[in-house]
Amino acid sequence: MTDTQKIVIAIDGPAASGKGSLARTLAAQFGYDFLDTGALYRRVALKCIENDIKPEEIDKITTVSADLSQNLHEKYDDSTLRNDKIGDMASIVAQIPQIRRNLDDFQRNFAKSAKKGAVLDGRDIGTVICPEADIKFFITASIEKRAERRTLELQSRGIEAKQSTVLAEMRERDLRDSIRLNEHLKPDHDCHVIDTSDMTPQEVLDTATKIIKDRS
Ligand code: DC
Repeated sequence: MTDTQKIVIAIDGPAASGKGSLARTLAAQFGYDFLDTGALYRRVALKCIENDIKPEEIDKITTVSADLSQNLHEKYDDSTLRNDKIGDMASIVAQIPQIRRNLDDFQRNFAKSAKKGAVLDGRDIGTVICPEADIKFFITASIEKRAERRTLELQSRGIEAKQSTVLAEMRERDLRDSIRLNEHLKPDHDCHVIDTSDMTPQEVLDTATKIIKDRS
């Protein structure tokens, strides 16, 4: 561990793998600080959409992210960010290296300044943001299972969703994320890979909890 008291947990993986719920629940369970780093990219995306900035207007997107990076510590209602339009734009802005750099410091400081512990979830936490994390998880699941989960989630929120369409969009998103992040999206050599395809959320939580407790 980084010191006697503190623990940093990095949780990476593709969309709808279950990494977000796992990260949130683990943080609550252990009393650690939690950061959903996808929400940072989504906040940049939302600002771009609100200001009618197009994906090709890289200078404008960079300015948005630089401005936002000064205010990221302010409380924000992340529930407004969870829709596919913002998710798609987030995936596009996340391809711009300068945008990633503008968001790096905040993420690193978040992990560094946590008192008891920090759980960060994203795509490059264990590889780029916190390569020294005490425990790294790579949460994955088959694309069919992830599409099924995302469809059910959308439907439960009253949003019309067809699994075949969700699957096609997810393939596109996976491809875009993997091209940009290349080796960073892959599990790091020292991470615990959990394939959640045939697991319940409780089983995933129990597996991760055991790994953390065994490590302490
Ligand atoms: O996890 P999410 O769906 O909220 O992430 C939105 C997009 O942001 C996703 O397409 C990939 C990108 N992202 C990233 O590039 N790096 C991160 N650490 C987190 C998210």
